[in-house]
Amino acid sequence: MACGLHAPTKTGMTQDRHLSGAPWRNFYGRFRGKTLRPNQETYLAEDLVKLSPGPVGWDINPDRKPIDLKSLFGDREVALEIGFGGGEHLVHQAVSYPQVGIIGCEPFLNGVAMLLGKIRASEAQNIAVYPGDVRNMLDVLPEASISRAFLLYPDPWPKKRHHRRRFVTESYLRPLSKVMKKNAIFRVATDIPDYVRQTLEEVPRHGFSWLAERPADWRAPWQDWISTRYEQKALREGRVPHYLTFRKL
Ligand SMILES: C[S@@+](CC[C@H](N)C(=O)[O-])C[C@H]1O[C@@H](n2cnc3c(N)ncnc32)[C@H](O)[C@@H]1O
Repeated sequence: MACGLHAPTKTGMTQDRHLSGAPWRNFYGRFRGKTLRPNQETYLAEDLVKLSPGPVGWDINPDRKPIDLKSLFGDREVALEIGFGGGEHLVHQAVSYPQVGIIGCEPFLNGVAMLLGKIRASEAQNIAVYPGDVRNMLDVLPEASISRAFLLYPDPWPKKRHHRRRFVTESYLRPLSKVMKKNAIFRVATDIPDYVRQTLEEVPRHGFSWLAERPADWRAPWQDWISTRYEQKALREGRVPHYLTFRKL
């Protein structure tokens, strides 16, 4: 499925822009899965507005003005989780570090609904949720505003001709690098050896340094880690997690 379709009428796309003003951006993931349970519909209807990080979408922020992180989180440091899936890691981080504000971006609505249920159960007060493509968020985050970013089991795109769809490419890493503070930490977890290769090639090109000094540094999970749904699946299927930590130079 793609949100960047060429047809100008039904989809609201003109040649290279969505009518909302968004640039033409391919998106190959899923927006919806199986039918949401009634309580999940309620979470989406009631909680997304309260948890909004501010004007991120092109329709409400066509000039791409930076969002106001101070009014969102006060003086807290800000973390970003890209593609939080079911949200277990995001909520774990929020509860472990109440002094940090964390923004999650995820276009898959079923995952967003799962996260909202977990936020209700945790009562965490330091979370903002953008139910959409992280590239929209990267447009409007102030420069050098993010202290920590998490990219956990990004879509692997195993076929060679699809490698350019991976997150660890120029169109994602350049804006990510811009919004990261000096010395900010960027964590990438993946179970795909070729994704490790591409990450280690591409991320340092965008102003990050890989912090591993010995194999244990990428083999062992981070000390504040909680295994995600995707990781559980990878382990069941015999794949090996890699935990890569970068520092913004
Ligand atoms: C393989 S899943 C991993 C989910 C979760 N991080 C975990 O470890 O269980 C990859 C996630 O990235 C999300 N994703 C894909 N493209 C994205 C984008 N452009 N912006 C934000 N999230 C995206 C997908 O919807 C999906 O939930």
